[in-house]
Amino acid sequence: MVDFNWIEFQELGDSRGSLVSIEVGNQKQVPFEVKRLYYIYRTEEGVSRGYHAHKNLKQIAFAIHGNCDMVLDDGINRQTVRLDDPTKGILIENMVWREMHNFSSDCVLLVLASEHYDEGDYIRDYQRFIEHCAGKG
Ligand code: TYD
Repeated sequence: MVDFNWIEFQELGDSRGSLVSIEVGNQKQVPFEVKRLYYIYRTEEGVSRGYHAHKNLKQIAFAIHGNCDMVLDDGINRQTVRLDDPTKGILIENMVWREMHNFSSDCVLLVLASEHYDEGDYIRDYQRFIEHCAGKG
């Protein structure tokens, strides 16, 4: 099994609808300092994304609308998780290869990240990722 965690956020909904609040800066809900957030939306039908790992980046990803599948691969095990709940984010640690597939057309994927964007932190080649996991990277 790939080592990942679900982070559950409380739904503060009432008769008017739903609300989720994410506090940053106090590490109460998010176990790292959030330096960046981004969202992925209007993904075209049949398109897959990701296909990379990060050397030093923690992220929490949620489908805040719609759904998609996320493949997580730690160099030994590979597992697919479904993102379809705006209150449940998946915490992805360093050195996990991820791919996103099967986006619903209405999917909005929100990602909280522990570092600013740095292309040098990406490993975009699967073979290199495997070598890195084996300590040759
Ligand atoms: P990329 O991380 O490759 O997308 P995905 O993993 O979802 O397939 O990012 C796509 C492009 O956007 C790439 O040119 C880098 C750029 N980008 C930023 O400039 N800042 C960011 O925070 C992110 C996530 C991507």
